Order: sequence, then C-alpha cells, then structure tokens
Amino acid sequence: MMRRGRLQEKGVNCLPRVYNGARFRDVLAKPFSVMPKNMLPLDVRAKLLRYAKKAMKNAHAPYSKFRVGAAILLTNGRIFSGCNVENASYGMTNCAERTAIFSAVAQLGPKIEVRAVSVVNDQGSPCSPCGACRQVIYEFGPDATIFFQGAQGARQAQITELLPEGFRLQ
Ligand code: THU
Repeated sequence: MMRRGRLQEKGVNCLPRVYNGARFRDVLAKPFSVMPKNMLPLDVRAKLLRYAKKAMKNAHAPYSKFRVGAAILLTNGRIFSGCNVENASYGMTNCAERTAIFSAVAQLGPKIEVRAVSVVNDQGSPCSPCGACRQVIYEFGPDATIFFQGAQGARQAQITELLPEGFRLQ
C-alpha cells in the first residue's frame, strides 16, 4: 500500500488504491496534492510579494537610489518585512532581507525559522540576496525558498542552492 506522506512529499499526483478485503477501491475523493514540499501556495507567495513591495517604499536609499523590499514567511505562518537602510558611511548599509530577519528576531526571539523570502526592487532588475544576506538567511532558514528577480525573470531557489556549504558553528 502506498503511503500518503511519502507521496505528498514527492508531489506525486495519484489516487491510492487500498485492498479492503473484497476489492480495490479509491479511498480518497481528491488526488493527493501535486505540491512538492518546498513549494508555497500561490496565494501565500502573492502575499509575501505584496509585503515586500510595501516595505520597499520605506527604503532609505539616497546613495544607490536602488530601493529594495523583502518579506519573510516563518514556519509559524508569521510574515515580517524589511527594506534597505543605507548610510553615509556606505559600509553600514543594511539590506532589505537582513532588516526583515532582524526585525523578526527582535519581535519573536532567535527561535524563528524562515520558510521563504521574497525580494523586490524598484528597478525591476535582477536582484538575488547578497552574500551576507544568504548567510543570515541560512542561519535562520536552512530550508528556505527564495523568490527573486533573476536575469531571465522571476526565479525561485533554495537557500542551499544560492549558498552551498553555508557556515555553521558546531
Ligand atoms: N540590497 C538589498 O537590500 N538587498 C539585496 O538583495 C541586494 C542589495 C541593497 C543594498 C544597497 O542599499 C542597495 O541595494 C544597492 O546595493
């Protein structure tokens, strides 16, 4: 007999058949979800995007003139957002992704787990999280999915694809 959990994890779309003693019959009215484990429902993804766009409007980017917004979805369902905050001493700039994560930690403490991150900018340019942000995302969400603008349009990637061998203290 096929196990529902395994099939769902693999995103297989099929109707299981079980032996009920007399004959095989379909036990579920609906097929199993076709959604792989790391895929977000479209409405949740759209909501994240909306939060990221809203936060982007608050960016402090007088030096680069490149406004960025990010929204993170936690495994507990909460959403936090952030924007880039630049500084006259350029190196102190904080990216939108880290602003969102730090804000979540400030509100909920360090036990948060990031499930997904959405990043947008006001130029429609390719903009994947920078190296520093990848490392911070990895710290709080080693299984996180990132939505961003790639060179060929909208993209989705796991943080471990963007940051293979992320650093961890033992
Ligand atoms: N920036 C972000 O906020 N997130 C990114 O993923 C890439 C870059 C910001 C930092 C800086 O304020 C501006 O974009 C230009 O580098």
